[in-house]
Amino acid sequence: MEDFIQNNKLTLLGKLTAGLLHEIRNPLTVIKLNLDYLNMFEKELSAELRESIASSLEAFERINFIISDVLDFTRKSGDRQKSVSINTVTERALDIISFTASKRSINIIKQFDPKVPELNINENKLLQVMLNLINNSIEASNDKSIIYVKTFYSETPENKKIVWEVEDFGCGIKEEDKEKILAGFYTSKIKGSGVGLTVCKRLLEEMGGQLGFDSEFGKGSRFFIKFIF
Ligand SMILES: Nc1ncnc2c1ncn2[C@@H]1O[C@H](COP(=O)(O)OP(=O)(O)OP(=O)(O)O)[C@@H](O)[C@H]1O
Ligand SMILES: [Mg+2]
Repeated sequence: MEDFIQNNKLTLLGKLTAGLLHEIRNPLTVIKLNLDYLNMFEKELSAELRESIASSLEAFERINFIISDVLDFTRKSGDRQKSVSINTVTERALDIISFTASKRSINIIKQFDPKVPELNINENKLLQVMLNLINNSIEASNDKSIIYVKTFYSETPENKKIVWEVEDFGCGIKEEDKEKILAGFYTSKIKGSGVGLTVCKRLLEEMGGQLGFDSEFGKGSRFFIKFIF
């Protein structure tokens, strides 16, 4: 329930932010127009004034860029579905997380099945799930270790199956903790909140996917997502 509320809060926050940014944009445009106007008298102005107009215009560009960026993000994180390959979403996730991994010299190796078909889902929800799972693997791993990210596709007369997995050779999970992990809001980390997997489970339920894992304490873990259709 708590994660549901948290998700809702984030959606609400997204909407509020979008509204707020639109409001900011109008007066900002007025400022920009006035700066452009002043700039027309460039030749009559002192070097100092020209300099301060130029830096104000630069600051305007910066604010405008941030606003566009945030608006773009809040728009995208809506409930839009589209046809997308799980391989493409994984590439995006790896682009985002590569910096965190490289800071600790962790090598993420990808092995994609090219036969994976496109799925009709919300790309940002799937991205969020991948980021949470890869992030957990990074946090569980020692520096300079390896993490595999793989996709698989299989077909039987009954169904089609897409599997995505992240495998690490980190601390692993104790037998007695395995149940607690998927029950929600469990953390073994000092700065953890146990929100990561709870949100993953919820988002996957919304997307019609399943979350699972196997793990051996001291050896490593493999977390996987399954889409059967
Ligand atoms: N790859 C993994 N290897 C070992 N343990 C893991 C792994 N993934 C998850 N866990 C265990 O599951 C717990 C719950 O994970 P979850 O992502 O929900 O929360 P967290 O990582 O502790 O905190 P948060 O994600 O909120 O920052 C972790 O604290 C850890 O004990
Ligand atoms: Mg986590």
